[in-house]
Amino acid sequence: MVPIGGQTGLVDGTVFDEPHVAISTERLRSLTEPDVLNARIRVGAGLTIGEVHASCPNGWTFAVDFGARESATVGGAIATNAGGLRVMRHGTMRRNVVGVEAVLADGSIVDDMRGLDKDNTGYDITQLMAGSEGTLAIITAAQLKLVPAPKNLCTALLSFASRDDAISALPPLQARLPDIEVAELMLREGLDLVSTHLRRTNPLPPDGNAGLLIEVPGFPETLAAASEELPGLIDAAVASSLSDRRNLFAWRESHTEAIKAQGSSIKLDLSLPRSMIGSTLDAVDRLVAAEEGATAITYGHLGDSSLHVSILGVPDESAPHLESLVLELVAAVGGSLSAEHGIGRKRASQLSLRRSQTEISIMKAVKAGLDEHGLLNPGVIFSI
Ligand code: MLT
Ligand code: ZN
Repeated sequence: MVPIGGQTGLVDGTVFDEPHVAISTERLRSLTEPDVLNARIRVGAGLTIGEVHASCPNGWTFAVDFGARESATVGGAIATNAGGLRVMRHGTMRRNVVGVEAVLADGSIVDDMRGLDKDNTGYDITQLMAGSEGTLAIITAAQLKLVPAPKNLCTALLSFASRDDAISALPPLQARLPDIEVAELMLREGLDLVSTHLRRTNPLPPDGNAGLLIEVPGFPETLAAASEELPGLIDAAVASSLSDRRNLFAWRESHTEAIKAQGSSIKLDLSLPRSMIGSTLDAVDRLVAAEEGATAITYGHLGDSSLHVSILGVPDESAPHLESLVLELVAAVGGSLSAEHGIGRKRASQLSLRRSQTEISIMKAVKAGLDEHGLLNPGVIFSI
């Protein structure tokens, strides 16, 4: 049984060659009046993340947000513990889901929709379901957390002379602006691709090689004062209207499709200790440079130290070797081979690069305890 949400995942969590029963949650569209007093919204698993945002009452919002918001469903986003653009401030789905209703492999229903912030009565079933990638149960509804919507968001693209300048700018910016919600890294090569794809001029100045998309509650003057004297800062484009803001976000959110338009690539979704980002990306660049015709397009969530690296132009026969070299490098510096996209079927054989045998045994014991016949999403997380 393969549970299907919006099918926006990138690790083959819903793609299965073997004969199977696909179970779509798209008709689970219940939506109750948002509960402002308790700051909760109760929704069916089939609503999209965009629909949840649109259902939030005035002054409140749901904090998880990402480019695929109009197709990705609540059930899928919980099952994959989706991250996205605001993790640095609000955490991943795990921090924003406070209850689930789910159907187990034996058909029983677990209703953990109580939704208290604190409830230390044994294991946390909702959190067990979050990130389980459809292997433990099929999520049918959820109780989500609402947060106060920030007032006067200031959105800007800061351009830097180099990637290292952009990476080093974040800690001082955060120290001055503790409420930064978004800090997304984009580099010249990626913005060139997006610029061709969107038929717009690259927003970086000619001597700019890296951009930081920043969003922070406050006014442009606050951001200007905080970014003064950042080494390597060469330009700042501040959104002065909603459409400016959308345009700035489009540069970042169009990376996926612009890269896809180039054909097949090695798509990596890496999480790194912040202190290791610069040196690891340098090492990745060296590995990629050794492969003739290959280019790395790096972009993503600098704010929570997770980056997407897509390597283009690698012949199919050398792709697995190059991918392993990069993943081994990432594992060696304490990084993760899946920051936010999950393991799915695509990375199941690589799980032990990140998790110990003891951890994998614990996970397998949980799986066997809840789904003894292995009915739910076989081959996901653990290879068959
Ligand atoms: C993103 O951050 O844009 C998504 O995680 C998808 C991607 O890998 O491009
Ligand atoms: Zn991402």
